[in-house]
This record gives sequence, C-alpha cells and structure tokens, in this order.
Amino acid sequence: MFKILNENPFESKVECLIVGLFEKPEKFTGMLEQLDGMFDGELTELVKSGDLSAKFKSVSVIHGLGKSNVKRFVFVGLGKEKEINFTTLKEAFGAASKKLTNIRIRNLAIALDSFICEKIAADDAALAFSEAYIMATYEFQGYKQKSNEPEIKIETVEIFTDANLDEIKLAAEIGSSYGKGTNSARTLVNLPGNMLKASDLAQYAKELGEKHSFELEILNKSEIEKLGMGAFLAVNQGSAEPPYMIVLKYQGKDEWKDVIGLVGKGITFDTGGYSIKPKDGIVGMKSDMGGAAAVLGAMEIIGNLRPEQNVVAVIPATDNMISGNAFKPDDVITSFSGKTIEVLNTDAEGRLVLADAVTYAKHHGANYLVDVATLTGGVIVALGLDKTGALTNDEALFEKVLEASYEAGEFIWRLPYTEKDKERVRGSKIADLNNSPGREGHAIMGGAFIGEFAEETPWVHLDIAGTATTKSEYDLGPAGGTGVMARTLALFVENFEME
Ligand code: BES
Ligand code: ZN
Ligand code: ZN
Repeated sequence: MFKILNENPFESKVECLIVGLFEKPEKFTGMLEQLDGMFDGELTELVKSGDLSAKFKSVSVIHGLGKSNVKRFVFVGLGKEKEINFTTLKEAFGAASKKLTNIRIRNLAIALDSFICEKIAADDAALAFSEAYIMATYEFQGYKQKSNEPEIKIETVEIFTDANLDEIKLAAEIGSSYGKGTNSARTLVNLPGNMLKASDLAQYAKELGEKHSFELEILNKSEIEKLGMGAFLAVNQGSAEPPYMIVLKYQGKDEWKDVIGLVGKGITFDTGGYSIKPKDGIVGMKSDMGGAAAVLGAMEIIGNLRPEQNVVAVIPATDNMISGNAFKPDDVITSFSGKTIEVLNTDAEGRLVLADAVTYAKHHGANYLVDVATLTGGVIVALGLDKTGALTNDEALFEKVLEASYEAGEFIWRLPYTEKDKERVRGSKIADLNNSPGREGHAIMGGAFIGEFAEETPWVHLDIAGTATTKSEYDLGPAGGTGVMARTLALFVENFEME
C-alpha cells in the first residue's frame, strides 16, 4: 500500500503532498525551510498573516503553481509542538486524509521529515500516518446501485523521508495492520443482520484462521448441546439460525502456557427476545456483535504481526430472536460451568452467551481473560458515547489493558465493582444467579455477572455499547461501526508481559 522513498519530495512528480505545520515555529527548519525558500519566503508570510493556519487539524490545500514538481500542497495544522502526541498526530493525519478523498487525485504523498520534532520520531510518525490514513479513508461499500461514472480514487501513497528506509517501511506496515484490522471490525459491525448471521461470522473466522494459520475450532449446535452450554443455547432457542461457538488459537510461544483469552459478544441481531426492545431501541442492533468484531479485528492484527504470545479467541455467535421456542423471563437455565441462572430479562442475553464463552476460554487454557461486549445501555447512561466502560477483578491486568488503550487512543473508564455488586447478581431465590438484578448500576451488573464465570482467573470486562458505533463521522472514520478495541486488544497482547 505505502511506498517509502528516500528522495526529496519537492523534486519528485507528486500530485498532492501532505506537509505538517506546527504553530508559531521560531523559524522553519528542514524541509519547510527549503519549501519557504522555493516560494521566496511566502510560506513564512502566509503563516504570519494567518492565511495559512497551523491550528490543530486545520487543512489547507495550496496549489504549487508551477514552482515545484508538486502539484498541490496540503498543509495540515499540528497545533503547538509541545502539545502534540501520538494520538493527536493520528487525528491530524486523519483529518488531512479525509479532506483528500474529496479531491480527484490518484497519487498522494507525505513529507515525513517535517514531523521529526522532539517528541515524535519519524518511524512513529510513519506508523501514525499509515494507521490514520487507512482508517480515515475507510468506506463501507453498502448496497446502493453503482453509478456508471468512472471514479477517480487515490491509488498510490508515497512516504518521503530522510530517515532509515527499513525502519519507516516496518512502521508503515505495522500502522497498516492496525488500520486494516480496525476496518475489518468496522465492516463486520456495519453488515446488516440478514447479511451476517452466526454462520457467516463462523465462515469469516474460518477464513481469517486459514489465512493466518490459526488453530480453528467451530462448534455447531449439536456439539454445543453435547457440552451443555445451556446459557448460550437458551439465547439461541427462539432463532431459526443455528448458533456457533467460534474458537481461534494463535500460538506464538513454544508451549501452550500463559494464554490470553479474548472473548467477544457475537449477537448478530438483538431483538431483546420476549423482553422485547421498543421500536426505537431495536434499530441498530445489528451492531450487537461489536465485541466479536473487535476480537476478530485484533486477531487479524495479531496474525499479521505475530507477537510471541499465546492467544485464544472465543466468540459465541447467535441472534436473539422470538418464537414459540424462545426462552422466556422466569426460565431457569444451566450454564456450561454448572451454575444455574434465573432469567429475569431475555434482553440481558449478552452476559448469558459470554458466561459460557468465558468458561470455554478457560477450558482452552486461558490464564488471563478480556471480554468485549456491547453489553448494556447502562454504560451509555454512565459514561456517554465516547468511553468504553471497564470492570476487573485484577488491578495489574487492568493497568495493562489501560496502557494499551492509551496507546491506541481509545478511551476506557473503570467502573467500581464491589462485594455488594456480587451479592446482587447472586440474588435469586431459586437459582445460583439472576441475569438482571434491576436498573440501578446495570452496567456494573452486566460485568459482575460475567465475573461469576471468570472466577479466580484475572479478568477485564470492556463494555463497548456506547463506543462500537458512532452516529457522526470523525477524524479517523465515517459514521457507523468504529472497530473500537481491535487496536487496544492487539496492543495489549503485543505488550503483554507476565508479572
Ligand atoms: N445489546 C444490548 C445493549 C446495547 C444497548 C448495545 C444499546 C448497544 C446500544 C443488550 O443486550 C441489552 O439489551 N442490555 C440491556 C440489559 C438490561 C435488560 C439489564 C440494557 O442495557 O438495557
Ligand atoms: Zn439485549
Ligand atoms: Zn445485546
């Protein structure tokens, strides 16, 4: 995708060149100084007069007017040099990349030398750019009839640099992997429920597994029945579509030990079941497999970067439907672990399928668990639409997930989880647990329920109900699925070190 060149971009034939600008530099240095010279000091004047803004994320397209081989310069404002960081740099690159999708060009280039500031090395800038470019220019193809007009699209992207070619190349490959894995997760989330059934998710996982040589296990309904995964089966009971328990294993160590379990909620459509959702709440429930998408996106990144870690990914895939066979409120079901559950709300189905998936991840040797799920509307009430809620039984493991989330630029906020919360999910008169102890703090209740199945295994729960989709476009992508947590999970796995 990216071509790395050790050449001077101003002497190359380039249709469109992205150049970063910091606010109020004492004087231009490096490439910018050279550029200013080429334009007889005009660049300095433009910045001084404010005609060319270096404000964070402002994007100005200026025609080269024959003074250079570069046809257009795209100046992207990076704000104050001391305020820039890896995440904000990606946002600025994303903003610039987005703007360029509206200009009819085939060739895009970026001059990365101008980004060598004290805080960000050239290879980090290359990683940030490649990830941001791939994410920002993502489009979901959709189902509209195609127009016959020929499309002009960016075909080549060149990175001009005076830094070490191999290092920049590697960084661009890593950034591309992160961007592509996130985009795959977005596409899965954007696919409607009739286009992505449990069987399609299983097929997708199978192809991903074959591509990256993962060990693959896809349990069908009768195998799930034989194992006694009663919680998972209860959710599937009203569906015409069979469920699948998807398992992917990546072994990056000599021995199968210190295994990280990634568990993703794979509800391909959530009607709520007999505790049916209101008509406004049901729209958008195709995204209820956002956790599965994040895990599969992360596995794609892991498959490409091949860290020295052991990972087992487990995805319970089904829809939550209504029929004469469907499970009902008041039903009591027996989970794979043996714990019985009184169903008070069939719309609290995510925790049921995850209960069996978490237990199954442990059966596959998971020593650490991270589950990701569009689990509760409650997390949106608590934290809004831009923060993923977290719960944990292990401070040290949570710190590792949190660090990865900082690096990915994906916001996580931890919710409290106390003995009282555990008592509430254990509060059924006729079963070991109940799946819906009431609306008070119900994002915590959702997580606490899953915690009953993680038991002593260090575990972090991530509730992405608010963050898996977005209603409006943003610097790194369009409205729709965000692919949130794919990068955080992959970074968490890559950086993971045993205590
Ligand atoms: N899939 C929903 C959660 C959700 C809500 C995801 C909004 C994305 C956007 C989940 O299965 C659900 O319905 N949760 C209930 C739980 C309640 C019945 C305890 C909820 O949050 O209302
Ligand atoms: Zn639900
Ligand atoms: Zn759900």
